[in-house]
Parts: sequence; C-alpha cells; structure tokens
Amino acid sequence: MNKQSKIYIAGASGMVGSSIVRILKKRGYKKLLIPNSNQLDLIDQLKVDKWFKNNRPEYVFLCAGKVGGMFSNMKYPADYSVKNTLIIANVINMSFKYDIKKLLFMGSSCLYPIQNGNKKIKPEMLLSRPMENSNIHYSISKINGYFMCLGYNKQYGTNYITPMPCNIYGPGDNFSENHSHVIPALIRKFHFAKLNKTKNLIIAGSGNVKREFLYVDDLAEASIFLMHRYNNSKLINVGSGKDISIKNLSYLIKKIIGYEGNIIFDRKKPEGVKKKLLDVSVINKMGWRQKTDMISGLTKAYKYYKKVSNIN
Ligand SMILES: NC(=O)c1ccc[n+]([C@@H]2O[C@H](COP(=O)([O-])OP(=O)(O)OC[C@H]3O[C@@H](n4cnc5c(N)ncnc54)[C@H](OP(=O)(O)O)[C@@H]3O)[C@@H](O)[C@H]2O)c1
Repeated sequence: MNKQSKIYIAGASGMVGSSIVRILKKRGYKKLLIPNSNQLDLIDQLKVDKWFKNNRPEYVFLCAGKVGGMFSNMKYPADYSVKNTLIIANVINMSFKYDIKKLLFMGSSCLYPIQNGNKKIKPEMLLSRPMENSNIHYSISKINGYFMCLGYNKQYGTNYITPMPCNIYGPGDNFSENHSHVIPALIRKFHFAKLNKTKNLIIAGSGNVKREFLYVDDLAEASIFLMHRYNNSKLINVGSGKDISIKNLSYLIKKIIGYEGNIIFDRKKPEGVKKKLLDVSVINKMGWRQKTDMISGLTKAYKYYKKVSNIN
C-alpha cells in the first residue's frame, strides 16, 4: 500500500473506520474511497458490484457493520445476524471479483468463546468452546466472515487478513442509551449523574469482572501496520495487553468526569464472563504496541461526548 493506492474504507463514518481515514489522511494517503451507507448500501449486492466495478479499489478495510452493546444485540438478533452477513459477504465477494490486492476484515474479540480461568485468549481458541449467548448472532456472522477470508486465501491464494481487536473506545463511539458498549455507557451515566447531582449512581454487576480496552486510534494504527506487514490467514489479536476491573474503570471515569456522588455496584444484575484478555504477543513481537493509556484515552472520549451531545 503506498500513498497513491486506491484504498476503500467500508464503514468510514463509524468509530473505527473514521479513525483509519483520519490517520491515512494524516500520513498523506491521497486516494481514499469513503462512501457512506446512503451513497452505498452494502446490503445491496448489485449496488456493491456496480460500485466496485466503477471505483476499482486496490486495498479494502472492511469496518462496516451493525455494531452495538449487549442489550441491543439481544433486542435485534435478526438485524445483527442478517445485516452483518450480507455486508461482509458482499464486500469480500466483490473484493475478490474485482481483484483487489489485499483486504483487512475487522474481526472482534467477542468472536471467541467463553473462557474460564485466567488464560489469555489465543487465536487457536476460536470455536473451541461454547459461545457467549448475548451476542451470538453477531459473532457467528463475523466468524463466517473470517471463514470467507480463509476460504478465498486457501482456494485462490488471496491475501485477506483478520485482526481481532478487544473492546474499542474513543471519539466516534456510540453513546446512545440503548446501543452503547461499556465505556460510552459509563461516560453517559456519570455525566448525567454529575449534572443531576445524583447522590448514588448504580452500576450493574459486582464490578469485579475484568475487560481489556484499546483507544480507537491505536486500533487504526495497528490496522494500517497490519495492512503493510501481516500476510497470514491466521487471526491476529490486537489489544492493550492489560485488563481493568469494571470497578476500577468506574472510579477512573468518575474522576475524569468529576462526579462527586457514590458508586453502588448492583451484584444482582448480569455482568458477563469474569475475564477477557487477549494474548497480543504476536503483534507486539512484530513491533506494534498500544500508545494511548486509559486516562488520556478516556479524557479524549469524554471531550468528544460533550462536544457531540451538546450537554454540558
Ligand atoms: N466498537 C468496538 O468496541 C469494536 C470492538 C472490536 C471490533 N469492532 C469491529 O470494528 C468494526 C467497526 O465497528 P465500529 O465500532 O466502528 O462501528 P460503528 O461506529 O457502528 O460503525 C459502523 C459503520 O458501518 C456502516 N454501515 C452499517 N450498515 C451499513 C450498510 N448497510 N451499508 C454501508 N455501511 C454500513 C456505518 O455507516 P453509516 O453510519 O453511514 O450507517 C458505519 O460507518 C466492526 O466490524 C466491529 O465488529 C468494534
């Protein structure tokens, strides 16, 4: 991939896609193709075919899809399953038909099965145990995307790669009440608790479960790095390499936002698996590491939230 390559970022308006676009532009990549979903509905196979025929991208970052938190996944299982399957199949299939040079299909750590114990998650663990039920429709459609890439690589020698990022947060995140992931949901909650001077803020679960988070620009950097350097069908994990308990995360966000009330953890509410930490040794050995620590990442995410929500 060079500065004159035609690069298509599918999902360029989303959190991850927009960060890839920002960084590619900053580095001087000139020919970025970034239609939004109104200009190109990736569910429509004929339109996708026509668009590839007319635009002929050389490199594809596939970051488009229906993405959301646990409650949204449980409420809209058909959308998560069918829309993602169609988007993924259309983009991968047309990438092959129009002979692109390389494709990066954005996977996700939630494709991995439930892990017990303290083991870090390795790519070999895919499909080795039962899956988390709350987002299974989304996960299965994305696992199928990985197998589409694998299938093309095996059958036709293509170079389609699949990074597996941990939870991502930062500017461009979805802060809506019903669709958000952990960090945007907490930022929103703490922000309103501060504004309303709420005395006790209730957070679902014991707060003891641990999760791994990565700032979105770090994922974008890693994706560009992998587009240049990684040529292998095997899944490659991308993460910070560290996890944090929801309790510690909550206190960190409380401090950044300046909420002065109490936090109460509601142990009766569901909170998912105890631990979910990726083994990121492969990408670290290749020379990539996260740059943004949680304090600066969360501060930037909060600044973005205040700007877009217009509630100060
Ligand atoms: N967020 C995370 O924590 C996380 C973690 C690991 C992996 N990932 C992966 O990263 C990728 C991007 O996630 P994200 O958080 O950036 O999601 P996002 O902010 O919700 O962005 C989704 C993107 O997909 C586009 N899109 C949706 N339906 C479309 C359609 N029918 N046609 C064309 N475009 C469509 C949206 O475009 P419009 O806005 O124009 O509709 C948007 O640009 C996903 O593959 C996800 O699995 C995300």
